[in-house]
Amino acid sequence: MKLPISVEWKKDHLQLLDQTLLPTQTLFFRCDTAQDVWQAIKSLRVRGAPAIGIAGAFGFYLGMIPFEKLSMSEFLLKAKEVFQYLNSSRPTAVNLQWALSRQLTLIQNFQSTGTDKTQTTKELLQKILQEALNIQEEDRSICYRIGINALPLIKEGMGILTHCNPGAIAVSEWGTALAPLHMAKQQGINFKVYVDETRPLLQGGRLTTWELMQSGIDCTLITDSMAAMVMSQGKVQMVIVGTDRVVANGDMANKIGTMNLAILAKHFKIPFYVACPSSTFDFSTTCGSDIEIEERPSSEITHFKGQLVAPEDVKVYNPAFDVTPCELITGMVTENGIYSYPYIEKIKDDFRQSNS
Ligand code: MRU
Repeated sequence: MKLPISVEWKKDHLQLLDQTLLPTQTLFFRCDTAQDVWQAIKSLRVRGAPAIGIAGAFGFYLGMIPFEKLSMSEFLLKAKEVFQYLNSSRPTAVNLQWALSRQLTLIQNFQSTGTDKTQTTKELLQKILQEALNIQEEDRSICYRIGINALPLIKEGMGILTHCNPGAIAVSEWGTALAPLHMAKQQGINFKVYVDETRPLLQGGRLTTWELMQSGIDCTLITDSMAAMVMSQGKVQMVIVGTDRVVANGDMANKIGTMNLAILAKHFKIPFYVACPSSTFDFSTTCGSDIEIEERPSSEITHFKGQLVAPEDVKVYNPAFDVTPCELITGMVTENGIYSYPYIEKIKDDFRQSNS
């Protein structure tokens, strides 16, 4: 794919694509410390559930470098602090916690299996860097498989509606929900995509349209409030979105406005699909209402490009995500296949098998 790589390790620092500047500028910036990565995630300069997991894994490595000279037990204590710190940048996408947990587990295993003579923190740091590279490489092949698995859903001539940016720049390559669209285009299938603008930060308007246009995909930008109208006109035969967390009963959190689409899709009898990698599953959380939903600054709603667009002292509620109940979801696409509702027990079984 020709799209820029949003997260890239460059010998001694992390390079990130500044997603807040797209589509007008394609600029990269460097992160040298865990603090740089925390800021980048918090400010959405890097965003999208798998991408923040990958960035977090590299941020963890950067955060542990200053502790190279510590004893192994002190190193582990610092690792727990760095974990907590990076994990506090954004709460909803579980991929961040998942990637950081992999790093922590690596250290714990290293400590319990090694002997003091042969195992050094220097060696361990190299393993932590390698783990971040592994996480990114695995995500690349997982997203490819999600695309291949979801490809049969894309039919000649159909209209597809999507929300937010579940694309290549939100992961390592291909995307989650956008992966099958990029692939279908490469196979010469004709289809149209309606892209929800995605208020208030316009991930659909700024990022998804830009990304689809780079692939030559026929896309039309609509505001979020137009989705019902477009569906009622028979222009949409499928909705496909990504997700930031799928919990034990199958409910899922995604960008604010996703639940509206699922309710509309049910009304208009349009299939509603969710695409995600296994790193997005959180079976330790029972149901959707237990998911922590990030609330973002009121200025994201009261201001547009620095300009006040609402009374300055108006009360604002700005949750960044909503939870779609599982019964509104037609099916879920993972790297292991397409799962129709009620999908969750089968998904759990398949994950158990692939991890055993
Ligand atoms: O706040 P964002 O832009 O990080 O939200 C991202 C989404 O909601 C995506 O749909 C999600 O991460 C899943 S697809 C990569």
